[in-house]
Amino acid sequence: MRKIVAIGRGGVGKTSFIALMTKYLKSKKKCSVLLIDADPDQNLADLVGIDLEKMQINTISDILFDVRYGKIDQGLKSFSLTDKVEYLINQEALYESEEFDLLSIGTKWTEGCYCQPNNILKALIARLEKNYDYVLIDSPAGLEHLNRRITSSVDDIFAIINPTKKAFQHFERAYKVISEIKIRFSNFYLLGNFQFSDRLLDSVNQRQEFKYIGRLEYDRRVEEINLQGRSLLKLQEDSPAFDSIKKIATTCAY
Ligand SMILES: Nc1ncnc2c1ncn2[C@@H]1O[C@H](COP(=O)(O)OP(=O)(O)O)[C@@H](O)[C@H]1O
Ligand SMILES: [Mg+2]
Repeated sequence: MRKIVAIGRGGVGKTSFIALMTKYLKSKKKCSVLLIDADPDQNLADLVGIDLEKMQINTISDILFDVRYGKIDQGLKSFSLTDKVEYLINQEALYESEEFDLLSIGTKWTEGCYCQPNNILKALIARLEKNYDYVLIDSPAGLEHLNRRITSSVDDIFAIINPTKKAFQHFERAYKVISEIKIRFSNFYLLGNFQFSDRLLDSVNQRQEFKYIGRLEYDRRVEEINLQGRSLLKLQEDSPAFDSIKKIATTCAY
């Protein structure tokens, strides 16, 4: 199993990157993929062409909320907290298909009172992820949640940057936070987004601890698909963005 996480500020292209990497892994490698949408923005499902609401798939935070406030089936009330959460996540939150599976963390999650469910969720994800060749995580800007709820180790971190000072500050902070909260990782890649220019490479190259892995080409069709809320899995394979993904995947030996 290889675990990949995309991080970066809002709007840099994280979700599009994860969706396109899913397309690559499915079309080129035919491997099993688990997608985890950890961003409260929650649009990964849209970009891989699934309507969670229509399919009546719940988010994990919906389930934890229901468990906490006792809004669950009478028959489950005698279960331990772990068993309740695990049962409900498997039944109601895990989207499964021939192509890929998907878990969405959701938005209702308030801080402070969820220590135990956090641990349960992390253990559950650790068991679940063993069933897949690739686990791809779409992460929100802050990373503290990752270690607390989702995982303490990843293989490849892709910090996606646009050409702004804030983006540079963001990945440096992210790198610091990841080390502080002790997330184990093998590679911390910097990925220039569709607005990034190779002119800016010098400022990136001076930073030894990060591997600059290239740039995601600007792609009019990616922009259109995003605008229409359609699936990026349908993008033509000769598109500039998909070419960039192929190069990145080859460099990472996926
Ligand atoms: N390769 C690309 N080419 C052109 N536009 C892109 C590309 N990737 C992303 N975008 C644009 O950037 C917007 C934000 O992308 P998104 O993947 O949702 O970012 P994030 O998940 O980081 O917020 C999209 O709506 C789309 O318009
Ligand atoms: Mg996103």
